[in-house]
Amino acid sequence: PEAQVVPGPLLGRHVVVTSGPTHEPIDPVRYIANRSSGAQGTAIAASLRDLGAKVSFITGPATVPPPDGVDVIRVETARQMRDAVEAALPADAAVMAAAVADWRVINAVDRKIKKDGSDNPPALEMTENPDILSWVSGLEQGRPALVVGFAAETHDVIENATAKRGRKGCDWIVANDVSPETGIMGGDENAVTLIRPDGVEAWPRMGKDAVARRLAEAIAGALE
Ligand code: CTP
Ligand code: CA
Repeated sequence: PEAQVVPGPLLGRHVVVTSGPTHEPIDPVRYIANRSSGAQGTAIAASLRDLGAKVSFITGPATVPPPDGVDVIRVETARQMRDAVEAALPADAAVMAAAVADWRVINAVDRKIKKDGSDNPPALEMTENPDILSWVSGLEQGRPALVVGFAAETHDVIENATAKRGRKGCDWIVANDVSPETGIMGGDENAVTLIRPDGVEAWPRMGKDAVARRLAEAIAGALE
């Protein structure tokens, strides 16, 4: 679908949004995945669109369909996602909502791995994926004016997310508690804390659509 442009505070702005999980292949029929549905990133892209932005929506294999009225770029792996972000720049803002796989399998093969009748299951050798958020945040040329990261944490949420913001060099971090008891991973609601250079704001638990609208409004305010 073509990006659609509506009047609003983000008219004339271009925002790159990453969303969904990435899949890291093991062999042609198997991969490593995570539980991200893509719901929060999809809602954010839709809200940015509703405020008038041109949105490049770079998505891994999500369970939720992409919004209408945005440029959809489908990828599978973290490395493909990084390349797609690079190709989508320049942008006024980048929102990295994807649950990027931290590691990929380096001994992936292009033929299905077969049981060999021995007692030795195959061993996966892993290496770290590129950190797309750190890379965008550190761009010396063409860095988006506002870079927003997410921090999925299961414990010490604010502390870990604040440290993550410093480490990655992004402007804002949206911290969320993904510990299993919250039921947030894969659910319709989110409880986030927005960490900005000038302070920390805990938002009440609300629908992912409401989180998205509020974040899009904040982004529009920052780009004004
Ligand atoms: N991210 C990214 N590229 C990666 C890993 C993460 O762009 N290879 C981005 C995510 O999209 C998110 C932010 O970095 O916006 C934080 O992701 P998170 O998984 O919470 O942080 P990590 O640095 O991977 O740390 P850890 O998983 O060990 O907590
Ligand atoms: Ca991670």
